[in-house]
Amino acid sequence: MSKFESHGSYTPATGFGKWIDARMPLPRLMHDSFVAYPVPRNLNYAYTFGGMLSIMLVAQILTGIVLAMHYTSSIDTAFSSVESIMRDVNSGWLLRYLHSNGASFFFIAVYLHIFRGMYYGSYKAPRELLWILGCIIYLLMMATAFMGYVLPWGQMSYWGAQVITGFFTAFPVVGEPIQQLLLGGFAVDEPTLNRFFSLHYLLPFMIAGVVILHVWALHVTGQTNPTGIEVKTKTDTIPFTPYATIKDAFALIVFFIAFAYFVFYIPNYLGHPDNYIEANPLVTPAHIVPEWYFLPFYAILRAITFNIGPIDSKLGGVLAMFGSIAVLFLLPWLDTSKIRSAVYRPWYKLFFWLFVADAIFLGWLGAKPAQGVYTLLAQLATAFYFAFFLIILPVLGLIETPRRTPNSITEAVLEKNKKRGRVAPSATPAE
Ligand code: HEM
Repeated sequence: MSKFESHGSYTPATGFGKWIDARMPLPRLMHDSFVAYPVPRNLNYAYTFGGMLSIMLVAQILTGIVLAMHYTSSIDTAFSSVESIMRDVNSGWLLRYLHSNGASFFFIAVYLHIFRGMYYGSYKAPRELLWILGCIIYLLMMATAFMGYVLPWGQMSYWGAQVITGFFTAFPVVGEPIQQLLLGGFAVDEPTLNRFFSLHYLLPFMIAGVVILHVWALHVTGQTNPTGIEVKTKTDTIPFTPYATIKDAFALIVFFIAFAYFVFYIPNYLGHPDNYIEANPLVTPAHIVPEWYFLPFYAILRAITFNIGPIDSKLGGVLAMFGSIAVLFLLPWLDTSKIRSAVYRPWYKLFFWLFVADAIFLGWLGAKPAQGVYTLLAQLATAFYFAFFLIILPVLGLIETPRRTPNSITEAVLEKNKKRGRVAPSATPAE
């Protein structure tokens, strides 16, 4: 399947192994994909987030399935069923905190994964489809997280659902029918909670399906690496196991320590206290804020306070918010540079870090009230967000003078070792 030379082939050790291999060679597929699979020899820790995401997806599905055994999706009992999970179900508090903080850590990992992809130009040909599949996963993750947050039926659940489904009414003609379809009626109510529960259970399995396509596409093109140069010979690669598996495992342990700190010491730090108050359609919270991972998009939505020609400010905000995600799909074609990695692109590197700062700043602004200086700052940060994709990236690729790139991955590794005064390792890695 891969165009790269594999590190060893699979030989079944037992009679049963041979029997399976002749009928459904799943162990062979696993061996070829996760043991002998050749990965660039210079992968750093930025390449461990994909593995983390896979484990987090499985963890979310497992904890979610058990939570669903005790949760009831009726507006009269949803809130108290969650409280009963916390108090009466054996280890229910742990399951719930793993699941709610797990969502946040899933997003931390996905943002790091996306930024890594942007830094090393992972989206460039021939990996455009791999990138687009990633963007689809990201959209599905957002939909899943949004609907999951509604399930405990707290004040923020209710009012968040109200605000987000309200976005659709900004679209002329189709807007209201779409909103009614989402709600199952004219307001956030029993049918809304039921369909959100159903979809919240379904979507993670759809994500798992798209992840399989994502990893399949990855195994066709192979991974990039910090130099951005493609694999040329077998000496540029090492076998996935043990090299990449050990690195992934170490990074995962560090990630889990941080995750465990949140789950066991500050489990409600990332949540909103108002969600411990049962939903009340008659009492609007002073500030309706989404979960932290949506804040940058919330800031973009609220930054458009003016009409743009025939487009009123409400529709403008919604279009800007959807546009800020849509632009990610176009990234492979907006970046015109022939050089893949930011390591050899001094100007791109600078603008990349400005973009990261801008995204964090937008997140901070999303949590502030939409008034006065905050609105002005959100408008400037939104302008930079779009300028980065639509102006800076296309122009930079044409005018930037990149640094000299090494001829091969092996050459880059040996050069680096020489600079650090390390004894040059053999050009042929251990089998
Ligand atoms: C559940 C979510 C996801 C899972 C489980 C996942 C899984 C993976 C894995 C296992 C890898 C290989 C290891 C690595 O490079 O870290 C990978 C690579 C990649 N992913 Fe994802 N991914 C997810 C989401 C995304 C998203 C949201 C994007 C982009 C919007 C994305 C874009 C990419 C790209 C471009 C690569 C190739 C990296 C390279 O070789 O340079 N992924 N993914």
